[in-house]
Amino acid sequence: HIRQVLGRDGDLAGRKIVVSAGGTQEPVDPVRVITNRSSGKMGYALAAEAAAQGARVTLISGPVNLPTPQGVERLNVETAVQMHTAALELAPQAALFIGCAAVADYRAANAAEHKLKKTDDQDTLTLTLVKNPDIIADVAALPDGQRPFVVGFAAETQDIERYAQDKLARKGLDMIVANDVSQQGLGFGSDDNAALLLWRTSDGSDRLVAPPQPKTQLAALIVRHALTHLSLTSSGA
Ligand code: PMT
Repeated sequence: HIRQVLGRDGDLAGRKIVVSAGGTQEPVDPVRVITNRSSGKMGYALAAEAAAQGARVTLISGPVNLPTPQGVERLNVETAVQMHTAALELAPQAALFIGCAAVADYRAANAAEHKLKKTDDQDTLTLTLVKNPDIIADVAALPDGQRPFVVGFAAETQDIERYAQDKLARKGLDMIVANDVSQQGLGFGSDDNAALLLWRTSDGSDRLVAPPQPKTQLAALIVRHALTHLSLTSSGA
């Protein structure tokens, strides 16, 4: 709370920032969902850090067990489609959009209206999935004047840099935070994380390796570097 009060005249004073956090939940039937292991800790740390530097932060959050950071406005969603709607409504007013949420790439094509029953004669159950919208790619595709500086994440288990570079380019992002989610004690659910930060530059040489550290500390580093590049590229909202 003290950090937020002291940060009112900080580097992000008055700037609007939207952060997405947590995993989405895609219903299969009224009692079952497809989801992932995101705890929301990384995204909540980013929102808290931006608020502590004086930003007006809206956190679009999937279902998580975390308190709302001091001074942050929180919008709860469950599905990727709901997160997509919220993101595209809020992003055009923001200077910076950070997509830290672990969004389900697919959802059940037809969520059952009633609980699916186990039957004695069926040993397998086939679910048909359809693609969800790519939230961060759609934010990055907003027209000039409505488009914030866009920071995405890449959760990878192999070839981290190559896949992250690919996501940076394919989704039209300004910056990407790549994390190796196969490492014990880092990534999903943990208090610590490590990352490789990449930016969209002509020669691809602009990179920064952040060693394992608490997510709160990594969040400060990410916000600082996003802010530096945002100031270099635009005036921001
Ligand atoms: O929540 P924690 O337990 O603290 O864990 C943190 C984390 C591991 C979840 C976080 O650091 C992280 O890596 N978040 C991104 C997870 C993810 O979905 O990565 P991805 O590589 O599948 O997606 C790439 C980017 O596209 C992400 O910015 C994601 O938000 C975005 N995306 C993905 C799919 C989709 N349909 N829409 C999107 O916007």
